[in-house]
Amino acid sequence: MAIFNYVIKIIISVCSIIGYKGESLAAPLLVTCLKKMEYRGYDSVGIGTINDGKVSVRKGVGRVEDVDSNLLLRVLPGRIGIGHTRWATHGKVTEKNAHPHTSCNGEIAVVHNGIIQNYSELKSKLMRKGHIFRSETDSEVIAHLLEEDYVSSGDLRGAVLNTAKKLTGAFSFIAAFSDGTIAGARFDEPLIVGISNDGYYISSDVIGFLNYTDRAIFLDNRDIVILKGSEMEMISFDGAPVMRPVTQVAWEFGGIDKGTYAHYTIKEINEQVETIFKSGKGQEDKIEQVSELLKSAPFVYFTGSGTSYHCALVAKALLSKYGRRKSDAIMSSEFQYLVNDIEPDPVIVAISQSGETADVLEVVKKAKPLGSKIISIVNVPTSSLARLSDISISMNCGPEIGVAATKSFTSQLTILYAIIDRLSGGVIGLENQRTKLQNAVKELVEGQKLIEQIANEIKNAKDIYVLGRSIHYPIALEGALKIKELSYVHAEGIPAGELKHGPLALIDKNSCVLVLNPNDSTFDDVKANAHEIKARGASLIGIGSSPSDVYDRFIAIPEVDEVLLPILEVIPFQVIAYYLALEKNANPDYPRNLAKSVTVK
Ligand code: F6R
Repeated sequence: MAIFNYVIKIIISVCSIIGYKGESLAAPLLVTCLKKMEYRGYDSVGIGTINDGKVSVRKGVGRVEDVDSNLLLRVLPGRIGIGHTRWATHGKVTEKNAHPHTSCNGEIAVVHNGIIQNYSELKSKLMRKGHIFRSETDSEVIAHLLEEDYVSSGDLRGAVLNTAKKLTGAFSFIAAFSDGTIAGARFDEPLIVGISNDGYYISSDVIGFLNYTDRAIFLDNRDIVILKGSEMEMISFDGAPVMRPVTQVAWEFGGIDKGTYAHYTIKEINEQVETIFKSGKGQEDKIEQVSELLKSAPFVYFTGSGTSYHCALVAKALLSKYGRRKSDAIMSSEFQYLVNDIEPDPVIVAISQSGETADVLEVVKKAKPLGSKIISIVNVPTSSLARLSDISISMNCGPEIGVAATKSFTSQLTILYAIIDRLSGGVIGLENQRTKLQNAVKELVEGQKLIEQIANEIKNAKDIYVLGRSIHYPIALEGALKIKELSYVHAEGIPAGELKHGPLALIDKNSCVLVLNPNDSTFDDVKANAHEIKARGASLIGIGSSPSDVYDRFIAIPEVDEVLLPILEVIPFQVIAYYLALEKNANPDYPRNLAKSVTVK
């Protein structure tokens, strides 16, 4: 059992679920909704509909479009249905493991997002009672639990309640019953009801139904929604009625077309010309409030995962240098174990594009009851993190569909610059430099040809090292992360000053090293490091504003105040990673094994 728990904890869960009940035909709607949500998970897909008291299911392996054209998902009959895109967690990528899963009597179909931790005990019990399982998934237990309860009691509502209460882990599920009822339940995974003129949606992501309605109800943890006849009932896991407000969701969240770009990733890289300029604008009040809070806080913690953690590292450096405040940056996957031992009454700044990252939420959920104030910087203002925060600032950079974070990183960074600028009485001078910054971003994204060439030249490198010092070190980490996740080439960010303390042993004529060598206090030391690397025969690419012979290739960063350089320096890495992915025939939008929101630890 201990081993089993460990295994499920490191798995990521990133499926999308959707349900519809209304006046329109369900299947074509569900196919469109699933295409919108596909960016979250995408190895298999399925739809189940109810028509004339009969449940029909079609499912298969592949992208929504392919499975739909092979199996004609969209022709399933009925005005009630559920759908799912799967990113395998329990069980291989097979048609059998794709959702929906059905009960033995075929009268209940279920789609699920998350992890059912106790599924193996539940499955054994159900098998002893004669239930036959057809998949290797944890999700299938939900269909059998519902059946077991419903068949013996005849009480659908009670069956949903009892089933939800028996599950442990993090989950949201939607069940469709042959009598035409749809029910959804949420525990630690998002679930949202969409209310349109012709019916109801239940979805793991507003993007799923935003083409049809912008009126949404965000269910809370332990909420259940039941759509029976034309009625909607909302109750908690203990059966008591609950009321949740209807929210109007911003339509800009729906704008997720690639336009003329080949991939979302390159579209989103290019969009930074606008998004960096806009970040934080219109939220000056909140920026002011947060800067006051940080000023008076006994201690500040910045936290996040992956790219958002790299942003936290830059924020810590800025707060110390310009705000003269004590702070720490701790990655959320580690921070959650330290929460009980942190400084008293701190402010925690949680950074997350999705606002649904389980590790970040875990930190916040543990720290909040201990008296921490929670500030969040998110791109999804309706996300769980935003709703758990005392103050939440939105990145407002529009939906980021490419799995690798690009524009969200520079947006979150710019917002943190704005907060620290405010707190330090304007010493950074961000606002006066916005236009200059925007022009610099434009110059960088327009310089993609050179970077494309560089990507071609380094495409056979087995290992890529990225070096930086001081505030540029987090950018070295972020640059290496972009390269490894998009191109699958091993890449490592290294503090340049640590080179001689070990990593230099790795460098030889086959190594490729990218060096952040800006014109600031780190310039001479980094250049000396570049010479040491050159002496070992490695190929060297410099990134900065003073080209030098030591570099085989040089990517020029336009002149801005040195404090703003990290915002610009990351862009060449995003572009290199994108073109390296193309060189390797990898799809930059959907790196293997990764998903956009990692909603389970
Ligand atoms: C890297 C990347 C991930 C995310 C991380 C946190 O390109 O996308 O490392 O940054 O999973 O996600 P959010 O910011 O949504 O909490």
